[in-house]
Order: sequence, then C-alpha cells, then structure tokens
Amino acid sequence: MNILVTGGAGFIGSHTLIELYAAGHTAVVIDNLSNSNPVALKRVAEIIDVPEIPFYQVDIRDRVGLEKVFAEHHFDACIHFAGLKAVGESVEKPWEYYENNIGGTLVLVDVMRKHGCKNIIFSSSATIYGDPAEIPITENCPKGQCTNPYGWTKSMLEQVLIDIQKADPEWNVVLLRYFNPVGAHPSGRIGENPNGIPNNLMPYITQVAVGKRPELGVFGNDYPTPDGTGVRDYIHVVDLARGHVAALKAIERKCGIAIYNLGTGQGYSVLDVVKTFEKVNGIKIPYSIKPRRAGDIATCYSNPAKAERELGWKAQYGLEEMCRDSWNWQRNNPNGY
Ligand code: NAD
Ligand code: UFG
Repeated sequence: MNILVTGGAGFIGSHTLIELYAAGHTAVVIDNLSNSNPVALKRVAEIIDVPEIPFYQVDIRDRVGLEKVFAEHHFDACIHFAGLKAVGESVEKPWEYYENNIGGTLVLVDVMRKHGCKNIIFSSSATIYGDPAEIPITENCPKGQCTNPYGWTKSMLEQVLIDIQKADPEWNVVLLRYFNPVGAHPSGRIGENPNGIPNNLMPYITQVAVGKRPELGVFGNDYPTPDGTGVRDYIHVVDLARGHVAALKAIERKCGIAIYNLGTGQGYSVLDVVKTFEKVNGIKIPYSIKPRRAGDIATCYSNPAKAERELGWKAQYGLEEMCRDSWNWQRNNPNGY
C-alpha cells in the first residue's frame, strides 16, 4: 500500500517508516517539523537503503498544502501521528493543543474523504482510560476522565473518528492506544529527541546517563505498587512501529471501527526501569525521591491479547532491549539530531 504518514519525522513515525518499507509498503511523509528534525528522514532512508523518503513540510491544518500532496499522490491509507504531545504544556496552552490536534485532524480527514481515502490509523493513548477501571486494561475498559487537555484531544478525536465512520461506513478507522513507547532503532541512528527537559522517564534516564542531568527525580514512592513507584507498560518503539503495519490488516479486511491496545502486558515500576537500565548498560543512575507528579496514576498496563488475536501482533522486545537501545541512541547522539 502507499501510506500517507503525518508526523512521520517524529519519534514513532520515523520508526514506523522503516517497518512499512520492510513489509513492502511505500510512504509519503507530511510534517510541519514543530517537534522534529528532517535529519531523521535522511537516516531512515539510509537504514532502509532508499534514496529518500518523499517528504512535504506541510501542516495538517493547511488545507491548501494538503490538497497539493493529495493531488500528487494516491494514498491507500493514512497513519496519523501528527500532533502535540507534551502533557504539561497542554495544561498551559489548552487552546493550542485543541486547535492543533483536533483542528488539524478535522482538516486532514476532510481532505482525505474528498480524495477518496477513507482509511485511517490514529495514534491514541492509554491516557484515554484515565485512572483505569480495570488492570490489566482491555479495550472494553471504559474511557475515563483525562487529567490534561492533551489526553482530552486523544479521547475526543477517538469519538470524532468513530462518529465519522458511523455516518459513512466506507471509512475504516483503527484506533491504536499506545502504552509507554521507549527504546530506539537498534542501529542507534534514530530515536527520541525531546526539546528541553524531558517529561518522560526513559529520556530523562538517558540524559542522566550521558551526563546532561545530575540525577533522576522519582515522582513518588508511596503508590500502592510493589515498591511504591508508578507502574507502566513500556513498549519498544520498534514493536510499536510493527503494530502499525499489523493494523493495516484491519484496514484490508474492512474493519469499520477497530480499537487495539499496543503494549506488552507487563508492568514495570520506575525503580525496575532504573535498575534494569543500570544492569544492562553498566551505568549508575543517581536518583532521589520527589513528591508525586500532578495527574499521575499508580498503575497502568495493558492486556494486549486482542491485537495478537486479530492482527497477529505481539511485542517481541523486553525491558532489557528497551534500556539497551534507548542508551545506544543517546550515547551515539548526545545532542540528538
Ligand atoms: P513526536 O512529537 O516525535 O511526533 C509528532 C510529529 O508530528 C512531530 O514530528 C511534529 O513535528 C509533527 N506535528 C505536530 N503537529 C503537526 C501539525 N499540525 N502538522 C504537521 N505535523 C505536525 O511524537 P511521537 O512520540 O512520535 O508521537 C506520535 C503520536 O503518538 C502523537 O500523536 C502522540 O500524541 C501519540 N502518542 C505518543 C506517545 C508517546 O509517549 N510518545 C504515547 C501515546 C500516544
Ligand atoms: N517518572 C519519574 N520521573 C521522571 C519522569 C517520570 O518518576 O522524571 C515516572 C512517572 O511518575 C510515571 C512513570 O515514570 O510513574 C512514567 O512516566 P512518563 O512521563 O514516562 O509516562 P506517563 O505514563 O506519565 O505518560 C506517557 C506519555 C503520555 C501517554 C501515556 C500513555 O507521556 O503522553 O504515557 O500511557 F498518554
């Protein structure tokens, strides 16, 4: 298939391009580069040994720009990664988040349908479960109260896409609810490149390891978890990328609406991650216990059985590979791209 990849220069998008090509698909990327670097696309092209990945620096809110891309290419489906994703920033700038994520998706979907492309795979998040009503979380777990505007954009966009599909059954909509993506391509050439102080655990740990930050703050050790620190379902970004290729199968069988959790099904605490990182990479990560972070929940991990049953997809990598590959990327690219 020929796939439009929005946000394809970003962390998950760049890894997904590699897996798409490996599976025999082709892709065209649009990205406004607001949180990414075009060097990522050059490196993807090197890894998969193609001269270049077709790329347009276009914002998904730019209808004219999108129309141009659709006039030049036929797309079988769109994998829609483009969006703003910083939880804390979304609390400070809710309008910008709703306008970019929701406004942008509405324009994208409108242009898609005008050009007869009614297949979309959407990057959703475990955050839509709020404080989950069940653990491990299945796709039947009710959606919950999000604690920030970013989470609400994901929750609302799921509903928008479901309603569009209901009104026009020619649409196939796959909602992928990611758990906690970490790791990097094993080549160490592409990886996560956060701006400023990382919000997320793994990039913070790698920045401590590389000497950019003195120590990790562990946000709370009094949660009702085995060691008191927060438990999450970390998933290697290469596994996550392959989940998107597998999700194309749902589109091929004309799924209508299909929803999948993409996680490993295994929960690890903050201290599990620190200890595994230290063991695998032979580097000490100094840390101190800090107060809980607002909006955090104690435990969040998936039941990923539905994706295995229906898509034949299952995560292959464990926490050791995630720690190894995150560090390999950071070590080789101490200042990112
Ligand atoms: P990322 O920031 O690395 O990638 C997103 C890309 O979208 C960036 O390259 C950015 O420049 C681009 N973009 C943003 N707004 C755009 C716009 N208006 N027009 C065009 N391009 C735009 O983030 P990521 O980690 O690769 O995440 C990809 C998707 O997955 C996002 O939608 C994110 O919300 C979702 N997601 C991420 C995580 C995570 O922890 N990384 C978890 C759950 C869901
Ligand atoms: N943590 C620390 N110190 C840090 C950063 C994080 O102790 O410096 C802890 C958090 O308190 C939490 C765990 O590490 O217990 C994971 O935190 P992350 O910020 O890495 O990830 P979250 O689970 O909070 O959220 C992430 C993404 C969301 C996405 C969600 C999906 O940031 O966008 O996963 O489950 F929605």
